[in-house]
Amino acid sequence: MKINKLKTIYVSPAGTTKTIVKVISNAINFEFSEQIDITNPKSREMKTETASDELLLIAVPVYMGRVPSVLTDYFNNFTADNTPVICVVVYGNRAYDDALLELKDIMTNCGCKTVAAAAFIAEHSFSSSEFPSSVGRPDKNDLMKAEYFGEKIKSIIEKLSTTDNINNFRIPGNYPYGGTKNLWHLDFISVNENCNKCMNCVSNCPVAAINYHDVGEIDINKCTLCCACIKLCPQQAKTMKAGPMKEAAIRCTKFAERKEAEFFY
Ligand SMILES: Cc1cc2nc3c(=O)[nH]c(=O)nc-3n(C[C@H](O)[C@H](O)[C@H](O)COP(=O)(O)O)c2cc1C
Repeated sequence: MKINKLKTIYVSPAGTTKTIVKVISNAINFEFSEQIDITNPKSREMKTETASDELLLIAVPVYMGRVPSVLTDYFNNFTADNTPVICVVVYGNRAYDDALLELKDIMTNCGCKTVAAAAFIAEHSFSSSEFPSSVGRPDKNDLMKAEYFGEKIKSIIEKLSTTDNINNFRIPGNYPYGGTKNLWHLDFISVNENCNKCMNCVSNCPVAAINYHDVGEIDINKCTLCCACIKLCPQQAKTMKAGPMKEAAIRCTKFAERKEAEFFY
């Protein structure tokens, strides 16, 4: 069985999942490689189909111990034909809970066969200079592990004679899944005088929740709390208001003990 095409699909509002997945896909180093970034809402409208002679690498951040609910419609529209898949979750050093198991189950329901899986750690989306958590991750050490994981996948795929031979390995997690898909609907972002209306926040928002004519106005029913508008603002014009999100950011700082990437084959 000859697989020489890699299709990498990821969502990465604050950019850390993207950093990790790029290192993995470079290390897999197949002749043909396609990157599909589904962070932008328009990109999730398309239907994705994959075949059995290509390898799929799918990577998502962990939200409240789960696969972000904003991806549900995208996955409902996704069809695969026995496509071998690598499932990757990226989390903010608290825990990934049942998210990796859920991602594997989602991909199985789409028609994929999971060859390998991994959980990586990155800076928490709620982290700031005031309330830092897992700052600077993925760091050099994390990216070396991502490279190792990619090389390992390459050797597994090279030895795979048919998708029927894929091992059924265990991924940590429980049924029913814990965590929650229901995020808070909160007005938690304030905009300060540094804002020069560059509109970066509008284009980076993965759910088009920010009003183009008034970036301080956010549709809290759409907002997924991803904090991309805060973290990617070139002027540092956005901060968290006092309230439940700031309290959550403070709680995240308590998960200070460094966790390391985990791999499953
Ligand atoms: C709404 C929300 C919920 C989160 N829940 C968790 C969690 O349950 N456990 C954890 O360790 N990190 C959690 N995080 C942190 C993200 O998983 C982590 O920062 C990830 O690297 C973000 O990926 P991105 O930079 O590609 O957007 C959460 C982040 C957000 C925005």
